[in-house]
Amino acid sequence: MKLLRDRALELDERDVLAKYKDEYELHVDDTIYMDGNSLGQLSKSARSAVIDTLDLQWGRDKVAAWDRWLYLCETVGNAIGSGFLGAEEGEVIVSDSTSVNLYKLAVAAVSVQKNRGRIVTDDQNFPTDRYILTGIAEQMSLELTVVHSDRDGAVTEADLAEVLDEDVALVSLSHVNYRSGGLSDMREINRAVHGVGAFSLWDLSHSVGVVPIDLDEEGCDLAVGCTYKYLNGGPGSPAFLYIRDELIDKLSQPIWGWFSTADQFEMGDLYLPKDGVGRFQVGTPPILSVAALSGALEPLIEATISAIREKSLSLTTFAQELIAEWLHDLGFMLASPSDPNGRGGHISLYHKDAKEINDHLVKRYGVITDYRVPDRIRFTPSPMYTSFTMVYDALERLRKLAMGMYKH
Ligand SMILES: Cc1ncc(COP(=O)(O)O)c(C=O)c1O
Repeated sequence: MKLLRDRALELDERDVLAKYKDEYELHVDDTIYMDGNSLGQLSKSARSAVIDTLDLQWGRDKVAAWDRWLYLCETVGNAIGSGFLGAEEGEVIVSDSTSVNLYKLAVAAVSVQKNRGRIVTDDQNFPTDRYILTGIAEQMSLELTVVHSDRDGAVTEADLAEVLDEDVALVSLSHVNYRSGGLSDMREINRAVHGVGAFSLWDLSHSVGVVPIDLDEEGCDLAVGCTYKYLNGGPGSPAFLYIRDELIDKLSQPIWGWFSTADQFEMGDLYLPKDGVGRFQVGTPPILSVAALSGALEPLIEATISAIREKSLSLTTFAQELIAEWLHDLGFMLASPSDPNGRGGHISLYHKDAKEINDHLVKRYGVITDYRVPDRIRFTPSPMYTSFTMVYDALERLRKLAMGMYKH
């Protein structure tokens, strides 16, 4: 036991990201936060960006501040694109929610392939993705093919092989599975999707900011993702969307809002979409949230995604070791790929009483994890603000709780 605790302390001493912890310590108490893939923590930089926007822009400049706000979604989109997505300038923009962006991109993709009748996804994809694709299929008289994938793993090229043919217009998947943390091989899947001439659309919500991504290099066509998880943009911060450069001007979006038009303030009679990825915006963006996101990106970009990934792999590997040592005998099993390189930033634990245990863990033991149906607890040590001793202490509290319940 002591040995493992010493290991945690040693790992903390060598942690090159340890200096960022202070950036996120705005409210210190005895709880241990392991839910950064649901809602990332508030940072000092996000907080001061919002305060500046309130005081120095909205408060002082009033409506004149729109001169700079009009370009904020592009600027922040480019920062996300270059910092985390391997995208060129002009391929990423911040707008709307992930759900809405998925809708816009999926409709755009199927609309330019009118001779094709199918969309493909998998049964472990996040609910909003599945619902939106189901709705599009119904509204546009297309067929939605839902392949089976491993609940404790990630969707693979092999899962898709049998259903990919020249009738498929779009394949829409998550890069990291929201429940298991399983990481898919985008490059291999994109190759298979392009082999039949379809488009790929990736949901990066659980990978952006914790797994290095190179959308251009890996041949992705389209992507969307949340910014309130590992990017720490705050509750409801707007999402981003990515369109591969050569596709942008070929695609037309289904919601013809004024923010997507060429001459927005001409107030013209006809709809004329602007050039570039901005044609996928819709209406007025939530500036305070975009400001929070913009501030939140600063420490992450400085830390670099490669250092974040390296620490993330060490954190989940250490957690995995403790789970094997302490929790297997108490009815827990890892419900995530056992190879760290096959995972994103979180791990999932199976227990038959996961819901009850998670409730106790949060309310009585001060460890903030989350429960996912039917019997999983997600455990997320976010690299920017989680130490190895926090991982140790959180799992020790879980062990004590479970021993009380299951050892007599
Ligand atoms: C994979 C994935 N996609 C989408 C969403 C949610 O999207 P939205 O911000 O539109 O609610 C989540 C939320 O947790 C998610 O995990």
